[in-house]
Order: sequence, then structure tokens, then C-alpha cells
Amino acid sequence: MSQGSSFEQAFGRPADASGSAPGRVNLIGEHTDYNGGAVLPAALERRTEVWLARSEPPVISIVSTRFEHKIERPVGDPKRGDWTDYAMGALAKASELGWLTGGACLYIDSDVPDGAGVSSSAALITAILRAVATIADVDVTPVDIAKHARAVENDYIGMPCGIMDQMAVGLADQGKALALDTSDLSYDIIDIPTDWRFVVLHSGIRRELADGRYKARFEECSAAAAALGTETLCRLTPAQIAAVATLPENLRKRTTHVVSEHQRTVAASAAMRAGDLATFAQLMNESHRSYSEDFEASTPEIDALIKDALEVGALGARLTGGGFGGCLVALIAAQDSAAFVDTFLARHEAVWRV
Ligand code: GLA
Repeated sequence: MSQGSSFEQAFGRPADASGSAPGRVNLIGEHTDYNGGAVLPAALERRTEVWLARSEPPVISIVSTRFEHKIERPVGDPKRGDWTDYAMGALAKASELGWLTGGACLYIDSDVPDGAGVSSSAALITAILRAVATIADVDVTPVDIAKHARAVENDYIGMPCGIMDQMAVGLADQGKALALDTSDLSYDIIDIPTDWRFVVLHSGIRRELADGRYKARFEECSAAAAALGTETLCRLTPAQIAAVATLPENLRKRTTHVVSEHQRTVAASAAMRAGDLATFAQLMNESHRSYSEDFEASTPEIDALIKDALEVGALGARLTGGGFGGCLVALIAAQDSAAFVDTFLARHEAVWRV
């Protein structure tokens, strides 16, 4: 049965439009996106697809292939702390923009894992905004959709994320990486060399962005930026760099990470353009060390997995996403990747390939 007819079966009428967006993996550039720095994410093959129809009553009805029951929430319902908030926030944003009046019926099918640091929420919000924009027949750019999607996370969900995920799921294509400068949203799409393989592996440790640790790091970066008198902590002047030594230790370490991570990300984009696998891999390894030791966003279990990935043949490996769990991304020469995955999975029962 096609998903269009599943929508009809769930709601007794056809959908008005559909929309979709992939998950993403960040190759390098962690916590730089709200500090005016560079990021380099790529799209996953896994996607979220939605089908949507307007409805008269001011109710949002949601059916997801992952859950058995239909969920109904009144239009304008404030966040209540479960996954349906992402759909409610996206539809509230669509109403605010004048793209939707009344209620809606929403059918969701996704194979993007949640709690994995691969942007399941950005994929869902973006897919919904795309579907509503089609219904409303508005001419909206992918960058504007990304800004609206970020606003849903910041304002409705209360998650102070940057714009990397929303830009990545809106702009990145299979086999390409998005070299994005978050200070002005300029970007370049780079072909991933065909003899490189980025393997995404779930550590088995779930993460929740809403659990407070991401926010704690965001707040430390804001405090460091305020103390140094900048809005872009990734790009400090020589005088500001000299003043980093006067910061309390935790702020000094966070600043050290975001400044060096920005530089590594710019260098990694250049290495990818040049097809320089060894340099890219080394930058990933330095990135993980910095993420773990300076930004303190890894865990001992994840550090052990990274070490083992390098031991069994990855050239570069790092924790990807917001931190404290979720996925590793490893870089391997294409011809060695199947053997690497087999060996690594055999050694770690809780790990699975995304
Ligand atoms: C999450 C956020 C992004 C970014 C990353 C860390 O994915 O949504 O904005 O800050 O963490 O790089």
C-alpha cells in the first residue's frame, strides 16, 4: 500500500500535499553554529516523509507509522514535552506565517532515528513546513525554511540550537557535504570523494538535546562571548584571544574548542575539495579530542568506542552531533569500509549502523 493511501485510510480523505527531508550527519564543526563558525554536515539516506491535509476544526490529528494510536491536540496547544511537540511547533509556525488556517491531519513515516544526534527533529519540522508551503502555494527559499525551522526549535521547543541541522536537511544532497559559514549563511556544496566512506554508527547511548547539557554548553559559550565582547566566539581578534586567559577555566576550555574547531572545519572543507583523505581524517581525530577534553561533551564509553574504531581500521573517527551520546562518524577508504563495519559491529553488541 502506498503511503498516500495510508493517509486516506487513517483520515478518510486524500492528503493535500506531502513533504520530506533527510536526517544529517555532521562530519566536523561541533557547537560552532551558534558561535558564528563553520560546519560541514552531510545528508543521510534516511528520510522523514509527511502527508498533510487541512481540516476545519481547530485540531491537529497526528498518525505516525512508529506509534499505534492517532494523537489529537488543539491548535495553539503549548509544548507538553513529547515528540508531537515538533509537529505542533512546525504547524504553529505555519499558522503564524499565514500558510495554514484551522487544523490539520498529519501522517508521518520516518526511518531517521531519534535521540541519535542525526537531526530527526529538523527533518520532521522541515518536511512539515515544505508540505504546508506547497498547500499555501508560497514561494519560499530553502534558507527561509531553515530559518523558520530553527525558530520552531528555539521559540516553541526552547532548544537554543544553531542553524546547522535545518540548513543541512534543507540543502544537502546524497554524496555531498554542505560547507556552511554560519556567520552569514554563505555556503558551498562539496562532492564527497567517491573513494571515501563516512560510516555512521550509533553508540547505543541515547541522547536528548532537551536534557539540559546542550543548553549548559550554549550558556557557557554565551558567557564567554559576553566576557570577551563578541557575538562570534569562533572568530576572535588578537586582543580577544589574549583575554581568553583571564576567563574562568570552564569558559576558557569551551572557547578553546570552538575557536580551534572552526579552524579545523575550514581546513577540513579544503581537504575534502582537494581529495586529501589523510588530512581530513586527522582533523576529525583532533576534533574529537577537543570535543572530549576541551568541550567536555563526550563520555568515557564513547571515547572508548572512538579509540577502538581507530584500532580496527578507521582513519578518522569522532562523536557527531550535540554531544553526550548518539552517533560516531568514522572515515574509511571505500574499499575497506565493509570489513571495518563487520569487525566493529562484532566487537560492540550495543552499536548499530545508521
Ligand atoms: C545540535 C544542534 C546544532 C549544533 C549541534 C552541535 O545538533 O541542533 O545546532 O549546535 O548540536 O554542533
